[in-house]
Amino acid sequence: MAITGSGSLAISFSVFVISAAFLPKVDTQNLATENKSVIEGEMVTISCKVKNNDDSVIQLLNPNRQTIYFRDVRPLKDSRFQLVNFSDNELRVSLSNVSLSDEGRYVCQLYTDPPQEAYADITVLVPPGSPVIESREDVVSEGNETELTCIAMGSKPAASIRWMKGEEELTGETTVEEMYDRMFTVTSRVRFSVTKEDDGVPVDCIIDHPAVKDLLAQRHLEVLYKPEVKILVTNPKGLTREGDNLDLTCIAEGKPRPHQINWLRVEEDVPPHAVVTGSELYIENLNKSYNGTYRCVASNVVGEAYDDYILYVYDAPTTTPTPTTNPVSTQDSRAGEGAPQKIDHAVIGGVVAVVMFAILCALIVLGRYFARHKGTYFTHEAKGADDAADADTAIINAEGGHTNTDEKKEYYI
Ligand SMILES: *[C@@H]1O[C@H](CO)[C@@H](O)[C@H](O)[C@H]1NC(C)=O
Ligand SMILES: *[C@@H]1O[C@H](CO)[C@@H](O)[C@H](O)[C@H]1NC(C)=O
Ligand SMILES: *[C@@H]1O[C@H](CO)[C@@H](O)[C@H](O)[C@H]1NC(C)=O
Ligand SMILES: *[C@@H]1O[C@H](CO)[C@@H](O)[C@H](O)[C@H]1NC(C)=O
Ligand SMILES: *[C@@H]1O[C@H](CO)[C@@H](O)[C@H](O)[C@H]1NC(C)=O
Ligand SMILES: *[C@@H]1O[C@H](CO)[C@@H](O)[C@H](O)[C@H]1NC(C)=O
Repeated sequence: MAITGSGSLAISFSVFVISAAFLPKVDTQNLATENKSVIEGEMVTISCKVKNNDDSVIQLLNPNRQTIYFRDVRPLKDSRFQLVNFSDNELRVSLSNVSLSDEGRYVCQLYTDPPQEAYADITVLVPPGSPVIESREDVVSEGNETELTCIAMGSKPAASIRWMKGEEELTGETTVEEMYDRMFTVTSRVRFSVTKEDDGVPVDCIIDHPAVKDLLAQRHLEVLYKPEVKILVTNPKGLTREGDNLDLTCIAEGKPRPHQINWLRVEEDVPPHAVVTGSELYIENLNKSYNGTYRCVASNVVGEAYDDYILYVYDAPTTTPTPTTNPVSTQDSRAGEGAPQKIDHAVIGGVVAVVMFAILCALIVLGRYFARHKGTYFTHEAKGADDAADADTAIINAEGGHTNTDEKKEYYI
C-alpha cells in the first residue's frame, strides 16, 4: 500500500511538472511582443499581439509593473504614452521622448486562465558626444614620435574607437570608464613616428556606436622635415668646356623653408671670380683647373642636407670635338661610374662573341683539314704495303702489319 501510494504521488507530481513546463509556453505563443532599442529622446512603440483572442482583457505594464494601458484606457499619468492601435489582436502603444529611466522590461498581460505574460526589453541608447582629438604637440619633426588622444564622452553602451591615418589603420590603446549609471567615456591613444610624407595627412578618430553613424573627428598632421636639395644646371646645356660660363641653381625645399643656402667646393676654394646670388652659383670662363665637386648645403631647424655637382671641364670646342662616351657623367658621380661599366660589359660581350665565333670557325676548318689529311695518309700507307718502293712507307707498313718484318729488319741493318 505504502509503495503504490508513493508511486502514484510521484506520477502526479511529474505530471504537474510537465504541465508547468509546457502549458504556459504553449499559451505564451498566443501572446507576442518584441525587444526594442531606442535612442534617448526618440520614440519607441511597444506592441502586444494576440493570436487567438477570446475577448480576454489585455494590459501593458511598465518595468515597475504599473499599468500603462488597460485595454484602451491609460491609468498612468504620463502623456508620453499614447495609444496607437487597439483591436482584438493588438495593443500598440508609443512612448515618445524616451529617457534613460524608461529602460527595462515591459510586460504584456492577457487575462486568460491562467494569465499569460510576454516581455519586451526596451534598451535606451545614448550616443556619445562629438569626439575630440587632442595632440601632445602641434608640430612634429620627421622621425619623432607623436601622440594623439581621442575622447568619446558619455555614451550608452560604451563606444569603440578606431584610428585611420590616411588609408592606414592604426591601433590605439583604449580605456573605458563608467561615469555614472551605465554611461561610459571612452579614451583612445595612438603613438607613432612621423615621416615627411605624413605632413598634411588626416588622422581620423572613428566612433562606432549603435546610436550613431559616421561620427568622427579629424586632425591633419603637421610635420617638419629637413630640406631636400637638388642642383639644376641652367647653363651650359651640353658639355662643360673651357671658356663656357657655368650657371647652377640650387633647389632646396623643406618645412620650414630652409633659412640658409650655401655653396662650397669640396676640399678646395671656389674660384675667386665665382658669383653666388641666393641659391645660384655663376662661374664665368671655365678652366680645367676648376674641376671638382661643388656642393649646395641647405638647412632649417630640423637639419641640413646637400647635393653635389661634379664639374669636369672638357677641351674647348675649337679642338677636335671628341665624342665623349658619356656627357651625363659630369652631372652625377654615380652616373659617371655606372655608365662606363655598362659600356665595358658591352665591349667585353662583343669581344667574347667575336672570339667565340673565331674559335668556332677555326674548329670547323681544322676538323675539315684533319679529315682530309687522314684520308691521304691512309692512301699512302696502302700504296707502301703494295710496293715498298719508298723507305718511309715501308716502315709505316711494317708497323701496321707483321707480314713484312724481314723487310723491315733488312732496312735497319
Ligand atoms: C529579449 O531580450 C532578452 C534578454 O534581454 C532575451 O532573453 C529574450 O529572449 C529576448 N526576446 C526576444 C523576443 O528576442
Ligand atoms: C490596427 O491594426 C489592425 C490590424 O492589426 C488594422 O486592421 C487596423 O487598421 C489598425 N488600426 C489602426 C488605427 O492603425
Ligand atoms: C524630453 O524629456 C526631457 C526630460 O527627460 C525634457 O527636459 C524635455 O523637455 C522633453 N522634450 C520634449 C520634446 O518633450
Ligand atoms: C624631436 O626629437 C628630438 C629628440 O629625439 C628632440 O630633441 C626634438 O626637440 C624633437 N623635435 C620636436 C619638434 O619635437
Ligand atoms: C686656366 O687657368 C690657368 C691657370 O690656373 C691658366 O694658365 C690658363 O691659361 C687658363 N686657361 C684658360 C683657357 O683660360
Ligand atoms: C679636368 O678635367 C679634364 C677632363 O676633360 C682633364 O683633361 C683635366 O686634366 C682636368 N684638370 C684637372 C686640373 O684635373
